[in-house]
Amino acid sequence: MYQTLLTDLQEGIFTITINRPDKMNALNKDVINELSAAIDEVYGNEEIKSAIITGAGEKAFVAGADISEFVSLDNKGGAELAQKGQDSVFNKIENSAKPIVAAVNGFALGGGCELAMACHFRVASEGAKFGQPEVNLGLIPGYGGTQRLTQLIGKGKAMELMMTGDMVGADEAKSLGLVNHVFPAAELVSKTRDILKKVGTKAPLAVAKVIACVNDAAKCDVNGFANEVKRFGECFDTEDKKEGTNAFLEKRKAIFKGK
Ligand code: COA
Repeated sequence: MYQTLLTDLQEGIFTITINRPDKMNALNKDVINELSAAIDEVYGNEEIKSAIITGAGEKAFVAGADISEFVSLDNKGGAELAQKGQDSVFNKIENSAKPIVAAVNGFALGGGCELAMACHFRVASEGAKFGQPEVNLGLIPGYGGTQRLTQLIGKGKAMELMMTGDMVGADEAKSLGLVNHVFPAAELVSKTRDILKKVGTKAPLAVAKVIACVNDAAKCDVNGFANEVKRFGECFDTEDKKEGTNAFLEKRKAIFKGK
């Protein structure tokens, strides 16, 4: 049982709802610790095939790291906070072999925008707003935002958003490539589930390799092309590859086992 999260598992889709609506779902220590444990569940629970991260209430997805916890931090404390968050939550989400999607239902600011960006892709409600306003606090993003925002929307626009602290609405976020779809708020989670149900009909090992290969594209110290060749070859040893190719040739629907 979590204190700061609501979780729900239906049809293999694990929905994690950050539940501090009176504080705009800000990421305090407890939320970070519990998110880390919830992502461990995604990794470890075989019944979970994919996950959605969203926020409770109508106003916020997550309005950032909890600013009240910044007051007493110095250089070392700030760096430790960022490192712990990156290791225990943000990088763990990005490297999950199971798809994790952000359903952004309101403000996604600072650490909230970073949380959404750590997910494999993002969908948003019509009223969602994205931004990295850390400069207003004399800070910069610390949960990977300088890197992931640049990867997602390009250097010039990322520079401008992080220098000005400006917010962008859902439609602009979509045109920038930050979100894939914009849905009416009432349909946000059900439409996200529909996408994940579709992914759930595909070969899970192949989906996991797509995630790993696409993540490689953002790393300068690995050869993503070579890793793609290696993982492509590995697919040929799987039962799912036999099933998928046979099903196509036999003109029937494939039934994948994740083996
Ligand atoms: N950390 C801690 N508390 C936060 C918070 C954050 N990042 N964001 C919002 N809250 C709290 C507010 O302090 C307020 O608490 P209170 O009711 O005890 O005073 C409550 O959530 C509601 O926020 P409020 O500012 O009153 O709502 P609003 O609708 O007027 O504004 C925002 C919404 C999101 C625009 C505004 O809260 C905001 O700018 N938040 C900070 C965003 C930010 O800088 N994030 C980056 C952090 S590194």
